[in-house]
Amino acid sequence: MQILPLSPDHADAAARLWAECGLTRPWNDPQADFRMAVSGPASQVLGALADDTLVGTVMVGHEGHRGWIYYLAVAPEHRGEGLGRTLVRAAEDWVESQGVPKVMLMIRAENDEVARLYEDLGYVDQGVRVLGRFLDEDLQRMREETAGG
Ligand SMILES: CC(C)(COP(=O)(O)OP(=O)(O)OC[C@H]1O[C@@H](n2cnc3c(N)ncnc32)[C@H](O)[C@@H]1OP(=O)(O)O)[C@@H](O)C(=O)NCCC(=O)NCCS
Repeated sequence: MQILPLSPDHADAAARLWAECGLTRPWNDPQADFRMAVSGPASQVLGALADDTLVGTVMVGHEGHRGWIYYLAVAPEHRGEGLGRTLVRAAEDWVESQGVPKVMLMIRAENDEVARLYEDLGYVDQGVRVLGRFLDEDLQRMREETAGG
């Protein structure tokens, strides 16, 4: 198993994996998210490749002050082997290599199970509320009309 920075050629495989792992939402475009992350100077998507098949990802980026982890995903048939933890550690190494001292992540409210993985890796509640809004009204409406996530 290799963990490598992905290229735009992996966009389809990553979007498929994210859908399979329940990480996509109607108001997000996973392919656009992927392409922006792999083409920007302050972000990357790291992938776990088993014989050229993408079986895990983590998206990572920073704004100079904090690094952020997104799209942590492991294909169902490879779960429980430590790959999720390995990907988080690889994301942390990337953030550190950028000279950024802190890494953060958001967990969807309904995704309780994953909290244990992060807690085991030393992540603690930062006592902050995350607020947001779409600048595109159509996306905001879609978000409000779709239950969950
Ligand atoms: C979260 C995820 C990446 C973990 O991958 P993994 O390779 O199985 O992780 P590891 O083998 O390194 O660690 C397993 C740990 O993950 C945690 N975990 C997270 N989600 C879990 C789930 N749905 N079921 C069971 N354990 C889960 C457990 O604490 C487990 O610990 P254990 O092995 O001591 O029981 C994988 O379950 C996944 O892709 N889930 C769907 C997408 C997701 O929720 N991503 C996180 C967004 S914040």
